[in-house]
Amino acid sequence: MQTPLDELDIITAKRYGDRGYPHEEWTRLRKESPLHRFHPEGYKPFWAVTKQADIIEISKQPELFKSEGRFVLFPEPPEDQPSLEEAPPLKMLVNMDPPEHRDYRALVSHWFTPRAVRKMEERLEVITHELFDDLARKNPAEVEFVNEVAAVQPLRMITEMLGIPREKEGFVLKVTNENFGIEDPDFQREGDSREDRLGFLTEAFEYVSGLLQERREDPRGDLTTVFAGAKLNGEDPPVFELLSNYFLVMVAGHDTTRNAIAGGLLALIEHPAELEKLRRDPSLAEIAAEEIVRWTTPVNHFSRTATRDTVLRGQQIKEGDSLALFYASANRDEDVFADPFTFRIDRDPNPHLGFGVGEHFCLGAHLARLDLRVFFRIFAERVKSIEITGPVENLHASFVPGPKRIPVRYEIES
Ligand code: HEM
Repeated sequence: MQTPLDELDIITAKRYGDRGYPHEEWTRLRKESPLHRFHPEGYKPFWAVTKQADIIEISKQPELFKSEGRFVLFPEPPEDQPSLEEAPPLKMLVNMDPPEHRDYRALVSHWFTPRAVRKMEERLEVITHELFDDLARKNPAEVEFVNEVAAVQPLRMITEMLGIPREKEGFVLKVTNENFGIEDPDFQREGDSREDRLGFLTEAFEYVSGLLQERREDPRGDLTTVFAGAKLNGEDPPVFELLSNYFLVMVAGHDTTRNAIAGGLLALIEHPAELEKLRRDPSLAEIAAEEIVRWTTPVNHFSRTATRDTVLRGQQIKEGDSLALFYASANRDEDVFADPFTFRIDRDPNPHLGFGVGEHFCLGAHLARLDLRVFFRIFAERVKSIEITGPVENLHASFVPGPKRIPVRYEIES
């Protein structure tokens, strides 16, 4: 007998850790109940939005469906502790709404336009070649791909843009892993209290505050200097919002791309004909980047809250209801994609929602695309063979899930 829809697990970190994204469950939901109300044990209720058209409709009405408040679904904490959803430890673009959201976004958006990002291509090529040079020197030619390869290029790029010194890369990676892995036993901080679990934020804020102060005294041409000199209507922005948004750019600027690179590798290994196609014509990396983002959908969901009663897909939505936008489900929507479960690196058109849509469309989308294009072009040119040598492990997370460990053996052109 089929599991009743209400009992499908599409949200616990454990499910994603043990079995990956719940694509079978979403396929059923898209067909049988595309806007379905869930109330799983340990969570506050939410509507699961699984069709692309509904996600677009919601995302384009930020006044009706706000991001402030419950912007990601987390389990309820023990009774004596404030919830991450109700008392978010950060106030950043992803949980702000217009008009405030637009003002904050404008502070740094000029650094992420297609034109601004194109200037980084040469540097990205150097970083990526250096990474493959290091791999070529390794003996034996074996590596844990997620942390030692996929993480390196996007992390180095965003830290260089921010002007964070290279010796601090490890620190940035650690706080990022602790942030997105807050439900993963490998990354969770020891301790029961909220303060213990969020200790990485305190450390990151301390470090970033120091760096911002340094740039105020000694400005440079980096993104930290832009944050340090930021003004909102001629005034200094509140410190908490400034630090939160810096933190967002720092961590969102590489973790997601790492997961796309790691998931992209798995997809190419699982689809050898596609890998062969890319090897024959590495310039396909440009378009393959889109398919990799569609296929992997590193940001699985964000959530919105209805600001008044409304009707969506014939369902009555009440003021205060949460709606979880499952981008990964929308990216397999049969009404939008032909053969959505086929990985095709030259899929065109590819109107995926991997970077969201509307007001909160990913600020770093052009940078992420460039990271991926450069990575997979050089990968196709230099990596002669690559195989998985042990179990692949997934992160225990339903917000930004993805592979946590992929042990590989490879041959590389030096
Ligand atoms: C493959 C890589 C990436 C994916 C899949 C991704 C995905 C997303 C998605 C789905 C959103 C929408 C949030 C919402 O609906 O509320 C978003 C927002 C955002 N992303 Fe990305 N992202 C990626 C890379 C990056 C990079 C490289 C940066 C670098 C700065 C970045 C910075 C941001 C920021 C600042 C926002 C908030 C935008 C806003 O709320 O106005 N992301 N991203």
